[in-house]
Amino acid sequence: LDDLLGEGVSGRRVFVRADLNVPFDKSDPTVISDDGRIRAVLPTLVALRDAGAKVIVASHLGRPKGAPDPKFTLAPVATRLGELLGTPVVFAEDTVGESATAAAAALLDGQVLLLENLRFNAGETSKDDAERGAFADQLAALADSYVDDAFGAVHRKHASVFDVPARLPHYAGGLVVREVEVLRKVTETPEKPYVVVLGGSKVSDKLAVIKALLPKVDKLLVGGGMCFTFLKAQGHEVGKSLLEAEMIDTCASLLAEADGRIVLPVDVVAATEFSADADHEVVGVADIPASQLGLDIGPQSVALFAEAIGTAKTVFWNGPMGVFELAPFAAGTRGVAEAITKIDGFSVVGGGDSAAAVRTLGIDESGFGHISTGGGASLEYLEGKTLPGLAALES
Ligand code: 3PG
Repeated sequence: LDDLLGEGVSGRRVFVRADLNVPFDKSDPTVISDDGRIRAVLPTLVALRDAGAKVIVASHLGRPKGAPDPKFTLAPVATRLGELLGTPVVFAEDTVGESATAAAAALLDGQVLLLENLRFNAGETSKDDAERGAFADQLAALADSYVDDAFGAVHRKHASVFDVPARLPHYAGGLVVREVEVLRKVTETPEKPYVVVLGGSKVSDKLAVIKALLPKVDKLLVGGGMCFTFLKAQGHEVGKSLLEAEMIDTCASLLAEADGRIVLPVDVVAATEFSADADHEVVGVADIPASQLGLDIGPQSVALFAEAIGTAKTVFWNGPMGVFELAPFAAGTRGVAEAITKIDGFSVVGGGDSAAAVRTLGIDESGFGHISTGGGASLEYLEGKTLPGLAALES
């Protein structure tokens, strides 16, 4: 971005790929529940706006099926972005159609335009190079230069991430640069002891990262829904808790390979059903009743995890420890997050749900070394995969 600003952008049309895929309130789907991803891209947008660029912002939201779907409109995001920028944002009702082309052509220097959801076009996510390329041609025609500041989407081989930069002079935004610097440090030269905390619902989603991290970490703490498949592999009955039966053998091999470095909860908060009002109790992992399901790690587990975290010089955390959105099951995530904020070392919160948990639970963000905006992207970076969006910027 500094290179682009150095070239002078006044009057130039700059296409900024952002990740404005924000969560909405479950009870009111028009209310953004966490605007962290919008805030994260503000420095790039402000720098371009203040330098007199005509700023064309594009993002995906959710996973619509390649056609317009009002449930996934970016209109509320345009409003919030305007509030945060302190200047109104022009909103185009399509991405490359009449509304977008007219709005892009009419933009004044220093104005910001947000296009409608990129994924309303089948070409954005198509696996067919020609179909993606045709859509990328249309996107590229809107602008003179391309900035990728959508770290959360760099692992997607999508038109706006992978194909547009091949068609325009391309630059990394400040957010992408910062995210990559931090993840490179954690991946290549983590100061030891290195403790990784993983949560979230599925082992299968995290398998690749567990395999990549196991040789590097001193401790891998596992909570969230995924811990139950590990507990089952240790021989415990897990009642109605989340279980990936086909992963039990894999978890058993990982536990054997880890030789004590994978740490599992010793107690859980179990409830009769998935509800904030359900009867719930703390039980040891050997005593989970057949009629109950575990929805959070218990207090002894929090203490055990906090002790391991307290020894660390580097912590990477991805995935909540429980159903933190429901108050009775938030203590595990809160306890682990607070322990991470206290370490005498460098911590990274890896993305999506965990970053939202930090903000939703009101935990002091300044206690973390870095809060990533990319969940899937940061995990794939840690796995050592080539990320299409970064490869496109480097070519
Ligand atoms: C995310 O939320 O991780 C990013 O915005 C990417 O979204 P996707 O998984 O729908 O591609």
